[in-house]
Amino acid sequence: GLSLMEALRPLDIGIAGECEGSAACASCHVWVADAWIARLPEPEDAEADMLDCAFNTRAGSRLSCQLR
Ligand code: FES
Repeated sequence: GLSLMEALRPLDIGIAGECEGSAACASCHVWVADAWIARLPEPEDAEADMLDCAFNTRAGSRLSCQLR
């Protein structure tokens, strides 16, 4: 199925998806609300590493290309 990035990108809300979902650009960074973050699987290493060098991260930060 579509990743969250692929679902959001056509909406023109600033989700660029520059690396096409390979967890290598962070242009698909989203803040997931507290009520939902615990329901998601933990980030894989590639996502966690990219989030470590992304801007404006906070609790709930995820790469939407890694969410399905
Ligand atoms: Fe590049 Fe998600 S699209 S990290």
